[in-house]
Amino acid sequence: MKVVTIIILLFFCKAAYFRKTRNGSLRNKANNGRANSLRKASSTIKRYAPGIPCDVYTYLHEKYIDCQERKLTFVSRDWPEDLRHMLLARNRIRKLKNNMFSKYKTLKSLDLQQNDISKIESEAFFGLNKLTTLLLQHNQIKILSEEVFIYTPLLRYLRLYDNPWHCTCEMETLITMLQVPTNRNLGNYAKCVYPTELKDQKLKQIKAEQLCSEDERLDPKNIVVAKPGAVKPEFDSSLCHIYVFPIQTLDCKQKELKKVPGNIPPDIVKLDLSNNKIKQLQAKEFEDVNELKTLNLSSNGIVYIDPAAFSGLINLEELDLSNNTLQNFEYGVLEDLYFLKILWLTENPWRCDYNIHYLFYWLKHHYNVRYSGLECKMPEEYKGWYVEKYVQSYYEECPKDKLPIYPETFEQDKEDEEWERHKEQSVQTVKKHGVIVTVIG
Ligand SMILES: *[C@@H]1O[C@H](CO)[C@@H](O)[C@H](O)[C@H]1NC(C)=O
Ligand SMILES: *[C@@H]1O[C@H](CO)[C@@H](O)[C@H](O)[C@H]1NC(C)=O
Ligand SMILES: *[C@@H]1O[C@H](CO)[C@@H](O)[C@H](O)[C@H]1NC(C)=O
Repeated sequence: MKVVTIIILLFFCKAAYFRKTRNGSLRNKANNGRANSLRKASSTIKRYAPGIPCDVYTYLHEKYIDCQERKLTFVSRDWPEDLRHMLLARNRIRKLKNNMFSKYKTLKSLDLQQNDISKIESEAFFGLNKLTTLLLQHNQIKILSEEVFIYTPLLRYLRLYDNPWHCTCEMETLITMLQVPTNRNLGNYAKCVYPTELKDQKLKQIKAEQLCSEDERLDPKNIVVAKPGAVKPEFDSSLCHIYVFPIQTLDCKQKELKKVPGNIPPDIVKLDLSNNKIKQLQAKEFEDVNELKTLNLSSNGIVYIDPAAFSGLINLEELDLSNNTLQNFEYGVLEDLYFLKILWLTENPWRCDYNIHYLFYWLKHHYNVRYSGLECKMPEEYKGWYVEKYVQSYYEECPKDKLPIYPETFEQDKEDEEWERHKEQSVQTVKKHGVIVTVIG
């Protein structure tokens, strides 16, 4: 039966082609004129196939509709519901919209080749759970995700070639699906057009797992957003987006926020506040998000962090503070971050004076914390120095005017003594803010 279907489809392709070559131009002219005047007259008038009705017929007990080459831009809902085969090749359909075929639940084959399709909405094939053959070759599709095929579980023949495929991260799921061995008639011959290093490679053969970098996997547009109803987000904000896959993420990137939003759901694991306008971090800003492992505060112009700002973030592993306006950290800022692993500090105007010592010693004593970008930007004499070098030189030169005001000597283990003192100070500072601190050392 499948073979018969395909032969019949091929037959109609030929027949239509024949018609076109012999009589195409004349008819096109006539139709254009008509369509234009109709469009002018009223925008609600259906623009398809003026004057040329589609042919409906039955062959071997199955109902067909032949609407090939009718300048269709959309699919009518007035065709017989019990169609098995829909021939829509060589029309002008640009977009397959959600539920476009949902009325035609018995369809087995759908021929959409040689249209102008560039977009297929995620529920375009909703209702087509009998569909076995789908022809999409010779269109303008660049990106498609596996998601659109969840409504077509019986699909066995899928033609995708001669589309300008962009083999990027968004295509990962589709390409993976095509490569499943039992899907041997899905997507054969389709080739990448972009990026250049994958040009002319077959979708069936490229390494799907290399399409996405780790960052892209977390990129919102590549994450399957929870369908309404599946997860009920408590976060009441039109601004930020919650993603539950692969990890609970709240994306508030680039939203002109001046403050850390309140009411963040407590189970968020990753919070992206980058590219906002949060200038200051107040005490206990993140107290209720104990599960947080990644916090991105880059590119905000932060000038001040309260010593208790990160209190409660005992599970935090990654903290991005890059591209802000920080000159130093007050004593205590990092004390709650027991499990911190990575700290981004690049692109901040670190000022190399006594106030930078806390940050330096904290990092020195938490040697398993990886960090980047701790370089003096000010004052001019230390510009471009690593903070570490600056602190060393601080003691090597040991000029009297640079010594701290405490009457102490720095003979042996001076750095450790220094650390102890900073620790004490930080405990005091933090206590002032009413936070109980357990000093680990
Ligand atoms: C071409 O089309 C016109 C009108 O659509 C028709 O009258 C004519 O017979 C056709 N000619 C051929 C050769 O098919
Ligand atoms: C934080 O956000 C910036 C910009 O959005 C991004 O470049 C950076 O990689 C992010 N950092 C982390 C740790 O994800
Ligand atoms: C750094 O932050 C500023 C705004 O504070 C932004 O305009 C700029 O694009 C950011 N730079 C990078 C490299 O993200």
